[in-house]
Amino acid sequence: MKRDLISILDIKDDIKEILSLAELLKSGKQDAACSLSGKSLAMIFEKSSTRTRVSFEVGMAQLGGHALYLSPKDLQMGRGETISDTAKVLSHYVDGIMYRAFKHEAVLELAKSATVPVINGLDDLEHPCQVVADLLTVKEHKGGFEGIRMAYVGDGNNVCNSLLLGAAVVCMDFVAGCPEGHLPNERIVRKAAGIAKENRCTSRVVSDPKEAVKGADVVYTDVWISMGQEAESGTKEKDFIAFQVNPSLMKHAKKDCIVMHCLPAHRGMEIVEEVIDGPNSVVFDQAENRLHAQKAIMLTLMR
Ligand code: CP
Ligand code: NVA
Repeated sequence: MKRDLISILDIKDDIKEILSLAELLKSGKQDAACSLSGKSLAMIFEKSSTRTRVSFEVGMAQLGGHALYLSPKDLQMGRGETISDTAKVLSHYVDGIMYRAFKHEAVLELAKSATVPVINGLDDLEHPCQVVADLLTVKEHKGGFEGIRMAYVGDGNNVCNSLLLGAAVVCMDFVAGCPEGHLPNERIVRKAAGIAKENRCTSRVVSDPKEAVKGADVVYTDVWISMGQEAESGTKEKDFIAFQVNPSLMKHAKKDCIVMHCLPAHRGMEIVEEVIDGPNSVVFDQAENRLHAQKAIMLTLMR
């Protein structure tokens, strides 16, 4: 039976093992050089990517496999071939499909027809691979999750949705500070709160950025305008001024708080240079961890 990673919840029972495997791969203690030898990963990108594309491609090479970059412009999908037919055809050639799509429904449709694992490389609802790397980064810098308080400040977007779920699954206290009208997905907020309750941690959404950051061990932000929302820039940006991660907001967090951003960042918008390039920032460790986390994900789903 094939396993997909569409939502971070799809790996909720294996997340601890995946993080441990990623740590072993990163430290070099586990050699997985030929583990995916002869296997291929198709990567369909409807949107731009630096980290996701390069880390999947390099990760596959390091595991002995091969990755193909496919843009819908070049695929027959761009000329109207259905997602379902594309999924069925690709399943005969490759051992896994990574899909970065505009719509969450498109990823679900691909996964329904594919007979090989489908990995969500970001859609408008979630960014699960990012959050596996983020959890790895928190674990490395804070030694674990229990008693750790993560504050996400900014747009209630795909990254925020996956962080809400991911934090609840690993029992990390989580608070999202988002402006009214830009809150995370309601169903996901409810789901995360339910998991957090079971796991005896907290999951909250507030509209005051200072309240969110108060006493935080981790402050996380992301762009105000996600890919596909470019038409909203200008109208949307003005709602976020108070949510900028700058030294004045950071005063409310713990002194040894780490600063995270999935990147790409817009310096001077959601975060200022002084903070993202400052001593508390771990954004480039976080970017590096995409590689280790994804290798662990691919080994779990495709081996
Ligand atoms: N964080 C992230 O997914 O980056 P890319 O858009 O460059 O892949
Ligand atoms: N929320 C951002 C994340 C980019 C990695 C977007 O969807 O554009």
